[in-house]
Amino acid sequence: MAERTLIIIKPDAVQRHLMGEIIGRFEKKGLKLVAAKFLQLSEKQANQLYSAHREKAFFKPLVKYISSAPMLVMVWEADGIIDMTRKMMGATFGYYAEMGTIRGDFSSSERYNLIHGSDSPESAQQEIKSFFTPNEIVDYKFTDAHWLYGKST
Ligand code: RTP
Ligand code: MG
Repeated sequence: MAERTLIIIKPDAVQRHLMGEIIGRFEKKGLKLVAAKFLQLSEKQANQLYSAHREKAFFKPLVKYISSAPMLVMVWEADGIIDMTRKMMGATFGYYAEMGTIRGDFSSSERYNLIHGSDSPESAQQEIKSFFTPNEIVDYKFTDAHWLYGKST
């Protein structure tokens, strides 16, 4: 099975009508959507999602931000997807992110950064498990997979 990652289109991106723009970039790149849920997190669930940052000064505002409005939680799949999606997202805040990245092109904030993507296979596995049961993740093939994922050898 190809690598999977958890992507969240965060509350600010939903409110700013950027869901289609972000999903469109992933689709055009040839990445495969295998699960999706539109939901609003409770503060408790947001605490859990970002528990790795519990000790940081920005933890409270981060939990407030992420639980403040609905967001779109997805699983995307492709070989090397964690690396690719992290590059497509750009640096943590749009203020610093390269132009051409999602955060660089659509955010100027040092708090609201539009999107979350898992940063390692281990965190992807754990984050996916916290939002989806195995039978909520769909297994299918693209008919043009040969053209999308062809290798030089
Ligand atoms: P993410 O986990 O959301 O994909 O973002 P990331 O890897 O680029 O950033 P990370 O270091 O994992 O931080 C998680 C989220 O915490 C908020 N944050 N605020 N200095 C701050 O105020 C600060 N630093 C991080 C951001 O919402 C970031 O996405
Ligand atoms: Mg992170």
